[in-house]
Amino acid sequence: MSANNASRPVRLLAISASSRQGSLNGQLVALAARKAQALGAEVTHVDLRELDMPLYDEDWATAHGKPAGALRLRELFAAHDGLLLSSPEYNALPTPLLLNSLDWLSVVPAQEGEGGLPGGTGTTAGKPVGLMAASPGALGGIRALPIVRTYLSTNFAMVVVPEQLALPQADQQLVDPQRLARPELDAALDRLVASVVRQARWRVAQAQSPQAS
Ligand SMILES: Cc1cc2nc3c(=O)[nH]c(=O)nc-3n(C[C@H](O)[C@H](O)[C@H](O)COP(=O)(O)O)c2cc1C
Repeated sequence: MSANNASRPVRLLAISASSRQGSLNGQLVALAARKAQALGAEVTHVDLRELDMPLYDEDWATAHGKPAGALRLRELFAAHDGLLLSSPEYNALPTPLLLNSLDWLSVVPAQEGEGGLPGGTGTTAGKPVGLMAASPGALGGIRALPIVRTYLSTNFAMVVVPEQLALPQADQQLVDPQRLARPELDAALDRLVASVVRQARWRVAQAQSPQAS
């Protein structure tokens, strides 16, 4: 089977690492999701704020077990083939919301027994992720992206595609729900989304027909 004819649509998660209503990163990842859907992908939006989890606290986990939100995130990653992620840059770092959510995911252990889900990082391993950032500033959040790249590739074994987009003056770029205002930036987003969808399709095709590789 070729990588282009997987028998089911690829499933992607779309996550904005902002907790703000009207978030620029939320708008950017929503645009990326629409572009992925136009390529045939199914997309599930995840609002990290809605996941039930405290600020990371080992004592809390000892008393209560892993939080429901972390288990839900593990289920979501297990059920999807890749990720579209847009994170604001807070003082040159990714947001606490993103790191807290994924730190919790990283400590979820594998479920015992046949058919049990793998541990948190077992559900992310090998899956493609496309990185975006949006900022009203001139740098577009580009300083945080290498950190997110290292975090996801090193500790979550994700395949971070080479294409990425840091969107400067994002408030001026996100005026049309179908495209970014500057054509070259919109084309860069197209390339990023296509790369994630292609990698996810390849993974699905491999899983369906491993001997064809
Ligand atoms: C604590 C904090 C730190 C910030 N640091 C940066 C920064 O380092 N670089 C940047 O471009 N914008 C920075 N900003 C501005 C954000 O880019 C801006 O608030 C943006 O709208 C956040 O993304 P959102 O619209 O998706 O919520 C910072 C904002 C906050 C609240």
